[in-house]
Amino acid sequence: MAFRDIYRAKEPDWFNAPVPSYGPAGARLLIVGLAPGLKGANRTGRPFTGDFAGDLLYATLSHFGFCTGDYAASSRDGLQLIGCSITNAVRCVPPQNKPLPEEIKACRPFLKATLNQFDSVEAIIALGRIAHESILKAFDQKLAGFPFKHGAEHRFAGKNFTLFDSYHCSRYNTNTGVLTETMFQEIFRRARARIGEGNTLLAEPGEVLLPVAKIRAKTVRKESGLRKI
Ligand code: URA
Repeated sequence: MAFRDIYRAKEPDWFNAPVPSYGPAGARLLIVGLAPGLKGANRTGRPFTGDFAGDLLYATLSHFGFCTGDYAASSRDGLQLIGCSITNAVRCVPPQNKPLPEEIKACRPFLKATLNQFDSVEAIIALGRIAHESILKAFDQKLAGFPFKHGAEHRFAGKNFTLFDSYHCSRYNTNTGVLTETMFQEIFRRARARIGEGNTLLAEPGEVLLPVAKIRAKTVRKESGLRKI
């Protein structure tokens, strides 16, 4: 909380608040990232927007027809997601871009509420191990049953979607060669194949999902006994 207050004072024009999910709840593809970047989503208010990671993510979405318009690192660039939505496991920017386990846990009710909005989702892409594990916990699945591995696909009993694992498209991972553009594209190619071409639900520029943060704030305090983040 203190960290966010510092940036509210220092950069009053930045978003500096829990970043809402972006895209329609009827989407068949949901991407789950880690947390807003300080000068990215925390500044612009749209997931991955203004971050290095966003350059690769939005270029890949465009390549596979999941968005239209030009991505210009601003929530006002007019970009429209197509049949796709983006959320984060953690809603507020964490200090040093590294969320603590208690922050991930405190944000899980928000993630759970978001996932529950996606009745028709057919593919979920988890960007990184933290997103993967938070999704598993949100669905009450055992981590040991579904280990994180780049390229792995998981199915949960009674659920209609496939969970695809990818390394996070962070600057660190791409600069060190842990994740190449080709490796990242392959995940989206498979997600596209899983969904088919039929899902053309458009998100209006700047469209966000329901303000889950407001609905669930009390639950977070009750369940975790932690501060609201
Ligand atoms: N920006 C986001 O919104 N999420 C990430 O995981 C990284 C950057």
